[in-house]
Amino acid sequence: MSDISRREFLKGLAVGGTVGYFAMAGVSSTVMRNSFIPPAKVGAVDIGECKSLKIKVITETSWFNNALLMDDMKKAGGLLVNQYEIPWTNKGVTEGWKGDNAGGYATLVEVEFLDGSTKKILLDTGWNVDWTDTCFKREGIDKMLANGEIDCLFVSHEHFDHFWGIEATLKYRPDIPILVPKGFYQEGFDLLKGANFPKCHLANNVPHTGPLKVQESEKVHKLYPGVASITFDVPIITRVFGEQALVFNLKDKGLAIVTGCCHMGIISLMEHVKQTIKGGDNFYAIQGGLHISPFEDWDPQYDDLVLALHNYGLKTMGCNHCTGYVTAEKFVTIGLPVVKGTAQHKSKRDIFLGNGDMMII
Ligand SMILES: [Fe+2]
Ligand SMILES: [Fe+2]
Repeated sequence: MSDISRREFLKGLAVGGTVGYFAMAGVSSTVMRNSFIPPAKVGAVDIGECKSLKIKVITETSWFNNALLMDDMKKAGGLLVNQYEIPWTNKGVTEGWKGDNAGGYATLVEVEFLDGSTKKILLDTGWNVDWTDTCFKREGIDKMLANGEIDCLFVSHEHFDHFWGIEATLKYRPDIPILVPKGFYQEGFDLLKGANFPKCHLANNVPHTGPLKVQESEKVHKLYPGVASITFDVPIITRVFGEQALVFNLKDKGLAIVTGCCHMGIISLMEHVKQTIKGGDNFYAIQGGLHISPFEDWDPQYDDLVLALHNYGLKTMGCNHCTGYVTAEKFVTIGLPVVKGTAQHKSKRDIFLGNGDMMII
């Protein structure tokens, strides 16, 4: 597991395991990036080209009440506690889904290739199965899954809000090919097979029957023409390890990155892509969770991050989820091209793309 073992990961987090770590993970991993990212040839890997992207935000509201979520983690012993050992209460939230705090993150990415053909990638599968299923039905994902129209489920990382709603996907297509990042724990594999975890109120009643691929770190995985993924050996709170992101090379535009949470840090990710993938000196777009102020706090060092992001010359930005509304306000103030949303389906503000919103690149 690269330079940092799980033991060192836990030891390191034990020193600074506070609420602040969750909020700062993106920055921390940026600072530590040299530990995780090996030296790479500058822009050497040719991933080909694709034509366009349609990105549909199925759900970006992973939970509805920050205080309740943090309280659950604190009561369980802090941010280092194994997510499968946390007795998430989830209940009693008026702004939540039927009083449940658990929501989830899931996005559909439709890629158009140069010959006009398309592929659909489901990026993550939510947390609350009922909420995720409702969002799937709203966007027609249920039918797309059942019809075999979705090529694969790309799980960005093992976090509860991105992966635990797996039953919502498998109930429509149990044999969907699944790609997970290196670092998945046995509990995650067991959940795919149909295990239940009563302590954290987690169940999957539809075992996965299709291909499952663990995407190794430290290499570029070419998925389709102009589409690749990269996995990072990154330690994440609640004992998750590893995250992968999608990279697209859009003809006549440049590179687009689509993320889940981006716990590896957006600057770390972009620098790695820049140094690894051909055309990495021309970023066009990013979309997804950027993990800067998920709990709406602000630390002056985040300003450096915002300034650094401005240097990449992005033409469009579709951030949401753990990016934080405070961060989005900073982006807009500095002139970054944040795409606005419509504040529908329980997304609270229109400052960035929310539930049901679409971005076309
Ligand atoms: Fe997340
Ligand atoms: Fe996460």
